[in-house]
Amino acid sequence: MNAIDVAVIGGDGIGPEVTEQALRVARTVLSKRGIELKETPYDLGARRWHATGQTLTDDDLAALSGHDAILLGAIGDPSVPSGILERDLLLRLRFAFDHYVNLRPSIRYPGVPSPLADPGEIDFIVVREGTEGLYCGNGGSVRRGTAHEIATEVSVNTAYGVRRLVRYAFEVAAARERKHLTLVHKHNVLVNAGDLWRRTVAEIGEEFPSVSTDYLHIDAATIFLVTDPARFDVIVTDNLFGDILTDEAGAISGGVGLAASANLNPEGAFPSMFEPVHGSAPDIAGTNTADPIAAIGSLVLMLNHLGIREAANDVQQAVSTHMAQRAELAAAGIPYEVTTSGVGDAICAAL
Ligand code: IPM
Ligand code: MN
Repeated sequence: MNAIDVAVIGGDGIGPEVTEQALRVARTVLSKRGIELKETPYDLGARRWHATGQTLTDDDLAALSGHDAILLGAIGDPSVPSGILERDLLLRLRFAFDHYVNLRPSIRYPGVPSPLADPGEIDFIVVREGTEGLYCGNGGSVRRGTAHEIATEVSVNTAYGVRRLVRYAFEVAAARERKHLTLVHKHNVLVNAGDLWRRTVAEIGEEFPSVSTDYLHIDAATIFLVTDPARFDVIVTDNLFGDILTDEAGAISGGVGLAASANLNPEGAFPSMFEPVHGSAPDIAGTNTADPIAAIGSLVLMLNHLGIREAANDVQQAVSTHMAQRAELAAAGIPYEVTTSGVGDAICAAL
C-alpha cells in the first residue's frame, strides 16, 4: 500500500483539537514508511448546522463513501437542540455506512491512575452492536405535552443483525488468549430480545468450541466492571447497553480521554469510522487540555483496519512508551499535566 485516503470529521468541541493530534501522528508514522496520507476535511457539526441548517446531506454521504476510512473527533454541542447532531449526523453515519460492529477496547496502561483502588489487569474489549436496538429511532409520542402523554422507543433486534454481530464477537474472542465471551443483556425483563441474543450466542458458539461463554445481566455487569474487571475478555452486547458499559469501562481504565473506538463495516462495503469514545466536552474546548490519546488510539484501530499493521504497532508502541512516562511521574507523586498538543508532541517524538 502506498497511499491511504482518509475523510476527516473534526466535529464539535474538543473534536478538532484531538483529531489534529491524531493526524500529526498519522503523518509522522506514514511518511516514515513511505505511505502517502490523503486527508479530506469535512465541515460537519454545530458550525455547519448554524450556518446552513444542514447536518449531513446525501451529497456528503456520497462523498464520504468514496474514502478508505473516516477519522472523527466528536459530535454534539450545547448550542444545538439535543439529539439533532447526534441522530442526524453521528448516528446517520453509523447507520448509512452499516457500522454494525462498534468495537471498544479497554486497556489500562500499567501504573496509570484508576478510580479503582485495586483495578488489577484491565484488558477486555466490548463488541457493541451499532445499527439496531434502541438507537433505531423507532418510536414516537402521542398526546405530547398533556397529562396523558405516551412516549415510546422500541428496541429493534433482528436475527440477521444479532447473528452477524455475535459471529464477529466470537471471531474476536477466538483470536485472543483467554478466548472468553460474555453476553450482557437483561433477559429477565427484555424477554423477547434477550431470548434472541441468548439463542444466537448458544447457536453460533457451537462453531467456536475453543471459546467459553457466560452471561450477565447489564446491572450485574456494571458491578463486576468495578469489582472485578479482570474477569472480562470479550463482551458482546446491544447498542445501548454497550454505550453505557463503555463509558464505565473508559472511566475505570484511566478515563474516557484514553478510550478509542471503531465503527466497523467488516465487509468493507462502506468506509469504517474511527472515533474516541468520549464526547465533545464543550466545557474544555479550545483550552488545549483534552487528552488526545483516545483519538490517537482510534488512529491505531484505523491503521490496523486498513492493514497497515507495522504503522499501527509503531503508534501503539509510542503510546505505551508515553503512558509509561506518565506512570513514572504518577509514582513520583507528580501528576502528568495533559496538554493536547504536548501529548501529540510526545507521541510524534517517540515514533
Ligand atoms: C458514543 C456516544 C453516542 C452514542 C451519542 C453521541 C449518540 O455516546 O459514541 O458512545 O450514544 O453512541
Ligand atoms: Mn457513549
